[in-house]
Amino acid sequence: MQIPHRVKLVDVGPRDGLQNEKSPVPAAVKIELVHRLQAAGLKEIEVTSYVSPKWVPQMADAAEVMAGITRQPGVRYSVLTPNMQGLEAALSGPRERWPDEIVVFAAASEAFSQRNINCSIAESMARFAPVVAAARAAGIHVRGAMSCTVGCPYEGEIAPERVAYLAGLMKGIGVQRVDVADTIGVGTPLQVKKAIQATLQHFDLADISGHFHDTYGQALANTLAALEMGVWNFQSSVAGLGGCPYAKGATGNVASEDVVYMLQGMGIETGIDLEKLVDAGKFISDFLGRQPNSRAATALLNKRLV
Ligand code: HMG
Ligand code: MG
Repeated sequence: MQIPHRVKLVDVGPRDGLQNEKSPVPAAVKIELVHRLQAAGLKEIEVTSYVSPKWVPQMADAAEVMAGITRQPGVRYSVLTPNMQGLEAALSGPRERWPDEIVVFAAASEAFSQRNINCSIAESMARFAPVVAAARAAGIHVRGAMSCTVGCPYEGEIAPERVAYLAGLMKGIGVQRVDVADTIGVGTPLQVKKAIQATLQHFDLADISGHFHDTYGQALANTLAALEMGVWNFQSSVAGLGGCPYAKGATGNVASEDVVYMLQGMGIETGIDLEKLVDAGKFISDFLGRQPNSRAATALLNKRLV
């Protein structure tokens, strides 16, 4: 398999990144972050999630954030919707404020499914099926996030067969593309390859994205492993923001800046301006009062000081 010559990144920083922040981040800051990401050339941005504010208070302003974004043609804006209530909220305003894509999210691990969305894997599919059908009938793309595809904080290692099972369920309810997520960032390259191989039983390569958290520092290596299989869609988080509220201790996604630096060095096209991306990461990191969690961003920012 040849390494792809171009890669599409979804920046999930505004959602996966910020959802875990304890102090409220104002909607205006989230909106500015989205604007900066699109100015840096991101063509896909996961903006927010329409989930229960009791469970994830940081995302309670989903409607305000979606309404406040000045959209750029050619950019796909996605949101998480765990149930019909979430989808209805996402589609309650005028069409120009609707997301282009919704994301339903399930886990390859039963225990994580219970903790994250309060139901079994089978129940989650029954809950998603009408959401997926309604979204597709409204002309909205549907992505499925598959959590814990290599490891689970409660069940340990996850066998590839369980990933294949979940991918089959996702396909069965009409999900159009899937994320192979290492939610807690424990996976290493060969494990990630097996999870992707399992997903390939049900989805084409072009419809599979890598979503790797960096808890153990493996996310860039896992990205390279997926690239070697021909995967060309990835999710990453500007400034390495984030974690998951239901995966204690897990850190953010691989930093977008690190992925773009690696891809540029490999001659792989992303359409992203790395310096502007670093600026976007600096903007949100300054707001949060910390340094960007990205080696490439840190190096480039240090270079500017010289
Ligand atoms: P539930 O408690 O089982 O649902 O939650 P319920 O239907 O019994 O409703 C309970 C309450 O929640 C009710 O309010 C509902 O109105 C409200 P009350 O009557 O008690 O005041 N509610 C909602 N409010 C707003 N929007 C909604 C919604 N649905 C119910 N959509 C539910 C089920 C899934 C909603 C809940 O468990 C939840 O929101 N969980 C949050 C899950 C979450 O956001 N996790 C983090 C994102 S996933 C992730 O990070 C992984 C990913 O990055 C990939 C990876 O790395 O693995 C994607
Ligand atoms: Mg995640």
